[in-house]
Amino acid sequence: MLKGKNVLLAITGSIAAYKSAYIVREFIKKGANIKVVMSESSTDFITPITLSTLSKNPVIKDFVKDKNSGEWNNHVDLGIWADVMLVAPATAHTISKLSNGEADSFMLATYLSARCPVFVAPAMDLDMYKHASTKKNLLILKENGVSIIEPDSGELASGLEGKGRLKEPEDIVNHIYDYFLDKATLKKNKIIITAGPTHEMIDPVRYIGNNSSGKMGFALAEEAQKRGAEVVLITGPVGLETPYGVKRIDIISAEDMLKAIKKEYSQANVLVMSAAVADYQPITFSDKKLKKKNEEMSIELKKTPDILRTLAKLKKKQLVIGFALETNDEKNNAYQKMKNKNLDAIVLNSLNDKGAGFGYDTNKITLLTPNKELEFDLKSKMDVAADIMNFIEECI
Ligand code: C5P
Repeated sequence: MLKGKNVLLAITGSIAAYKSAYIVREFIKKGANIKVVMSESSTDFITPITLSTLSKNPVIKDFVKDKNSGEWNNHVDLGIWADVMLVAPATAHTISKLSNGEADSFMLATYLSARCPVFVAPAMDLDMYKHASTKKNLLILKENGVSIIEPDSGELASGLEGKGRLKEPEDIVNHIYDYFLDKATLKKNKIIITAGPTHEMIDPVRYIGNNSSGKMGFALAEEAQKRGAEVVLITGPVGLETPYGVKRIDIISAEDMLKAIKKEYSQANVLVMSAAVADYQPITFSDKKLKKKNEEMSIELKKTPDILRTLAKLKKKQLVIGFALETNDEKNNAYQKMKNKNLDAIVLNSLNDKGAGFGYDTNKITLLTPNKELEFDLKSKMDVAADIMNFIEECI
């Protein structure tokens, strides 16, 4: 849920500021991008160099970067960059300034520029936290749409006991994680996605295969995972990195792919077959490398199992989507496939469209269902994956 999210952490001058290093670590471990802004007084408790090293980004404290050249830090850009802003620890002083909309520091101006959701994690002594002014200021923040991550009760830096301890870093990060999970549009869905070619072995070194790169299927898996789905990616031999948070199963042949899908199918509610499954496999497999002999040779082939057809017959709750890569009479062929394989929808790519098909980073698709046709422009495979996932969301 946090992979690739832009997190803006604002640190203010509390002894709990030392914990912000752990907050940064937790976000980085979960795959987020993180930038840190600091108030002047927070640097008495933790140094910018600690935070810039952990966050892998320069820390910003002041508007002016270089007085001589006039270079400055842009709070507006930072506010737009952020998917979420977190003020942790937030002192009583900062909470007061945030609630009044003051902008006399870079951090405060960034808060006013932020278009994203803002979370504030207070940290202070118990009496400051209980004070009517703090309560009023926190109420104003809530009314302004800010979420408050309530402090814990326990031993405080003053030696007193009570409510005011900054929430533990792991709990703060989980709080933000839950926020994104709650917004995730495909949560509680299990989606099987197939990708790449299959290799039908002739002997230990040779196979029948095709040029599928697997890029489209991997983009679909990444997009579905970002939207909170549980994703199983069943892939033929490809040289691609597994998208974060995706369960990957590597297979070689069409028969392997069918077996792997069958194991996952009953718990899934969506199957997207973007794999370019070989249509034929050798009737026999030679366990020794075949030797060159005659001028000509032939290999006897039989059909591979039609995975989609087999699974569409077993289907209960599943939405089943196939792919069709065509060179001529594209729409008719795709409609025919959708009917023969009993699919809910088919994604058509035409090899006549420039930039579409195997190996490209772009694709141009038409989505066909028994009663509608959706045509899309040439886009990056990531954007095509988003269009297909939007369609899936509508269907389910
Ligand atoms: O049958 P054809 O290969 O033209 O159809 C393409 C669609 O069928 C793709 O979604 C592909 O993954 C799937 N397919 C299959 N089993 C096969 C061959 C293709 O499920 N043996």
